[in-house]
Amino acid sequence: MRLKSGQSPKSPSTRYMLSLHVVTKAVLLTGFTQGFNLANNTSKTMFGFFEENPVRMNRFKDAMSFLQTFPGLKNSYVLEGFDWASLGNGLVVDVGGSHGLVSMDIARGFPSLRFVVQDLPQVIEDAKMKVPAELADRVTFMAHDMFTEQPVKDADVYYFRWILHDWSDKYCVKILKSLIPALKPGARIMFSERCLEPPCTLPLRQEKWNR
Ligand SMILES: C[S@@+](CC[C@H](N)C(=O)[O-])C[C@H]1O[C@@H](n2cnc3c(N)ncnc32)[C@H](O)[C@@H]1O
Repeated sequence: MRLKSGQSPKSPSTRYMLSLHVVTKAVLLTGFTQGFNLANNTSKTMFGFFEENPVRMNRFKDAMSFLQTFPGLKNSYVLEGFDWASLGNGLVVDVGGSHGLVSMDIARGFPSLRFVVQDLPQVIEDAKMKVPAELADRVTFMAHDMFTEQPVKDADVYYFRWILHDWSDKYCVKILKSLIPALKPGARIMFSERCLEPPCTLPLRQEKWNR
C-alpha cells in the first residue's frame, strides 16, 4: 500500500487503511476467511475447530444450554408451539441437536415420540454418555454431517433449532438439499430461529447484537 502525499502514517485514516490492508492480505495469503480464523489461528470452520478442541466444544455446548434459560428461548415454547401429539409415535430427527436437550424435553412431554439427535462425532460421543436412562430407548444419537445426505429416511419431522443462523445462504441451501432424498410425502421440516426485525428499525446496538 502506498501513502498519498501529505498523508502521515499516524493519521487515523491511514491507520485504518493499513490495518484493513493487513487483514485483507492475511485473508488472501492464508485462505483465512473470518474473524474466528484470525483470532484462533486456524483455517478450519468454527465447528471444525471445536471438533479438535474438546474443551472449547464443551464450553460451546454449555453456552447453548445456558441460552435456554433466557426467558424468550425456553424449551417450553417448542413444546407448546406445535401439536407434537398429532405425530403419534412418529420419528423426529433433531439435526445439529447437540446434546439433545430440546429433544429430551419434547420426549418427556410426548412419551410416544422417538428422536434421533444428529451432530458432529465428538459432540455425539459425549452426548451418548449423558442421556438419562429413562429416555435412552426413545432418544438416540447419531454422528452425521448435515452437509451430506440425510441417512435417516422417512422421518416425520426434521427439526433444526438454532442452526441456519450460523451459515450463509449458500450453506443453508446445501444443508436443506441434503434432506431431499430422505423426505417422504408429508414430512415436515421445522426451524426454531429468531425472526429479525427489518433493518434500521432498532437502536444500533440492539440491531448489531441481533445480527
Ligand atoms: C448453535 S448450536 C445449536 C445446538 C442445538 N440445536 C440447540 O438448540 O441447542 C449448532 C450445532 O450445530 C452443530 N453442527 C455444526 N456443524 C455441523 C455439521 N456439519 N453437521 C452436524 N452438526 C453440526 C454444532 O456442533 C452445534 O451443536
